[in-house]
Amino acid sequence: MALRPIGPCSTCDGHEHMYVCICNGVTDRDIRQAAEAGCRSVQELTMRTGAGSNCGSCLDIAADLLAQVRGTRELALPMLQQAA
Ligand code: FES
Repeated sequence: MALRPIGPCSTCDGHEHMYVCICNGVTDRDIRQAAEAGCRSVQELTMRTGAGSNCGSCLDIAADLLAQVRGTRELALPMLQQAA
């Protein structure tokens, strides 16, 4: 399943966002925000955003986005510790 562009965002420097979950209108931005707020699993993401709660065809992409944000956050601290 391909992400579907929904156009530039007016609140984050015109960055383009995509619908990840068409059934529930959940965007990549929604998923990134949930991950940055501490969401740790796809099940938790579904509870917070509704992504994946209907047909489930978005779950792989949602999981990839969640892992991507978590990986970025979790790499940041060791990199900072090495620099100190
Ligand atoms: S596209 Fe997400 S539940 Fe259907």
